[in-house]
Amino acid sequence: MRRDLKAAAFRVDQFKVPQIAAGPAASIDAPALAALGRACGLPLAAFREEHLRKQLRGVLAASGSGAIAGLTERVQTDPRLRERLRAAIANSVTGPLRDPRQFELLEEELLPPLLQRSGTLRVWSAGCSDGSEIFDLARLLDGAGALERSYLLGSDLLQENLDKARRAAAAKPPELRSRLRWERRDLTAGRPPSGTWSLILCRNVAIYMRSEVRDRLHAMLAEALGRGGVLMLGRSERIRDPRPLGLVPAGPHAYRRQS
Ligand SMILES: C[S@@+](CC[C@H](N)C(=O)[O-])C[C@H]1O[C@@H](n2cnc3c(N)ncnc32)[C@H](O)[C@@H]1O
Repeated sequence: MRRDLKAAAFRVDQFKVPQIAAGPAASIDAPALAALGRACGLPLAAFREEHLRKQLRGVLAASGSGAIAGLTERVQTDPRLRERLRAAIANSVTGPLRDPRQFELLEEELLPPLLQRSGTLRVWSAGCSDGSEIFDLARLLDGAGALERSYLLGSDLLQENLDKARRAAAAKPPELRSRLRWERRDLTAGRPPSGTWSLILCRNVAIYMRSEVRDRLHAMLAEALGRGGVLMLGRSERIRDPRPLGLVPAGPHAYRRQS
């Protein structure tokens, strides 16, 4: 009985956030969450409850708002607060050579078979944040003499991240700049960019999503790979059931599309 009650409390359609504010217990329901989502321009229902609670608690405390309704009002008139909320929820943490062993794996094992093929190497960094990941990848491709036949797409939910990525790209050599494209894209909203991909990096993005949203995202990414294409996730991530998606393990947290 207690377990049933606990499970019910975590349903999104009855979303409760007890003691979310520093003061008296506050709670939000689905309409309040939807209103906040509209105000900050994020698909809040796609994120895990624990993640939302933690981030909302921090922003509420910092903003002096006692409850979600107050925060919703404030983000409509305070662009800095809105940006702070968006950054906290989307979580844009990244950096150069994040998890270097993954780049070693790419350089030594995953890229060579892809580079043996002729034609354009199409790489998508899905959830690219400020572009660090795709710049690192571009360095590997350059080292392998394959940059000039590569097409590199960085996509992200937040326009502010793409703006940072574009500014960073402006300081890169023209041979790299001409290969790069940037696109605002919500990975929870369905379709991938057109064409099939040789390599997709989607690292540290799905960890903040609810499990069913994450599974749908993994299926969408698998579908977007060309045959033999590789999907790399973050080092704490895995695909629950890769084979029905046509994927086989290709290394730690990496998968190759077989069919
Ligand atoms: C923790 S960062 C990871 C950045 C980079 N992939 C890395 O591993 O360093 C997560 C990124 O995913 C983006 N993101 C979160 N939810 C997203 C969504 N629904 N669609 C697209 N991007 C999303 C965030 O804006 C952020 O830039």
